[in-house]
Amino acid sequence: MTVVEEQPGAPAPTPVRIGGVRGGPPLSTVLRRDSWRLQPALVALGLLGFIGYSIWAANRNGGFYAGPSVGRDYLSPLYSPCLSNSCTTAGYVWGGWSWWRVSPAWLILIFPGAFRATCYYYRKAYYRSFWLSPPACAVPDAGSTGRSGLRKRYTGETRFPLILQNIHRFTWYFAVVFAGILTWDAITAFRFPDGIGLGLGTLLFVVNAVFIWAYTLGCHACRHLCGGGVKRFSEAPVRHWFWKNISTPLNEHHQLFAWCSLFSIIATDLYVWLVASGTIHDPRIF
Ligand code: FES
Repeated sequence: MTVVEEQPGAPAPTPVRIGGVRGGPPLSTVLRRDSWRLQPALVALGLLGFIGYSIWAANRNGGFYAGPSVGRDYLSPLYSPCLSNSCTTAGYVWGGWSWWRVSPAWLILIFPGAFRATCYYYRKAYYRSFWLSPPACAVPDAGSTGRSGLRKRYTGETRFPLILQNIHRFTWYFAVVFAGILTWDAITAFRFPDGIGLGLGTLLFVVNAVFIWAYTLGCHACRHLCGGGVKRFSEAPVRHWFWKNISTPLNEHHQLFAWCSLFSIIATDLYVWLVASGTIHDPRIF
């Protein structure tokens, strides 16, 4: 048992058991007086909103391509690349897989889904917001109240199933491929029936590709790939340059880009659906 050092005029110190049951003292002894519940609540709301929208958009299985009928070449990021035969309505089909029967979006969502679900930032977000483990800094784990026997047996990410979080570094390679594909989609969004043009949708595609790259290159695995395992940076100048100028600055704002890219994916898909269904007209800037 150790005790927080007493300061003159400070409230009575709270005993903290080091090496005791995970989670620290009960919730009633939390010293924080700010609204620490707000952030995990907002994060839970945001994540549930994204999951709900993605499921709806994936099951929609239509309206994911605004093509020649509306004078555009916009393919929703949730359906790109088109791999199954069922998305022949898109301008191009990369795979032509006839055996795939459900919405082609599910074929795509597996990869970015695995990348984001195992991301260090999102782990923190859902451990805090959904598992309350712990819900915030200096707040005990919900399991420490004794309601959950499961959390008392918590072994971190050292055993199944959480050990699977270690696949994150491998999912990064897929994420780079998808970022490349979304960049290609942003380039084709400049394609208009009479040549090169710029629509409001084109801008959305470009912004989406920028956010996706910012999120992907700021990944902790990417940063380690660039700067990790190097004894002397002078021996790896290119990696050092990338680590110092790209990966590290982006990593500092990883949480921000995680959210920006999430919103830009939703906004782009929603926009394509609205244009493809004829609900709105995509204004052309030039
Ligand atoms: S740590 Fe977030 S994407 Fe890798």
